Amino acid sequence: MIKPFEPKKLEIEKDLAGMSLKMIQNHFKLYEGYVKKTNEIQEKLETADKKTANGVYSEYGELKRQETFAVNGMKLHEFYFSALGGDGTPKGALVEMIERDFGGVDAWKEEMVATGLSARGWAVLCYDYGEMRLRIYAGDAHNVGAVWNCAVLLPLDVYEHAYFIDYAVDRKTYIESFFKNLNWDFLNGLITKWGIDKIQN
Ligand SMILES: [Fe+2]
Repeated sequence: MIKPFEPKKLEIEKDLAGMSLKMIQNHFKLYEGYVKKTNEIQEKLETADKKTANGVYSEYGELKRQETFAVNGMKLHEFYFSALGGDGTPKGALVEMIERDFGGVDAWKEEMVATGLSARGWAVLCYDYGEMRLRIYAGDAHNVGAVWNCAVLLPLDVYEHAYFIDYAVDRKTYIESFFKNLNWDFLNGLITKWGIDKIQN
C-alpha cells in the first residue's frame, strides 16, 4: 500500500545572507513538483503491468527508472531547505565527527566546495553506516551517485536552478553563501535522531 507524500512547508520567510527569498521560493516550487511526481509514479506503479516488465522498454520499467529520480529529488531537497536558516557557525557532535573523518572543518569545507564545483547536481555529506564514518559524494543527477547504506546529512544543491537567479554562473560564491546559512542545530539533530552519535568506531 502506498501512502502519498505531503510536501513540507517552506520555513524560510525572508532573504538569507546572500540568498534571496525569491530564489528560495522558486527553488521550493521545483521541490513541490518532485513530491507530486513521486506520488503520481508510485500510484501508477500500483496498477502497471508487472508481467510485461522489461529492461529495454516497459511501462513498469520506465516508472521504476523515474521513481528514484523523483523520490531522491524530493528527499534531497527536503534536507537542503531544512539545513538552511541558521547562522552558519559549526558546532556540536557533527563538528567532532568532521574533525575525526576529514581532519578539520576547513578541510571538510574544502572537499565540499570542490565536490560542489565538480558535480552536475549535488555534493552530499552523508554517514556510511558500514564504514562508520562521514563521506562526501558527488551526484550528477538526483539518482546518480548515491551510495547504498549512507544516510544523507547535508546535500548541497549545485544544479543551476539553485543559484542562477542570484548568482548567474557564479556557483562558487553561491556555495559560500550556502555555508553561511547552515543550521547546525538541525544537522546535529539528524545525528541524534538516527543514533549516529551512539555508534562506536
Ligand atoms: Fe534543486
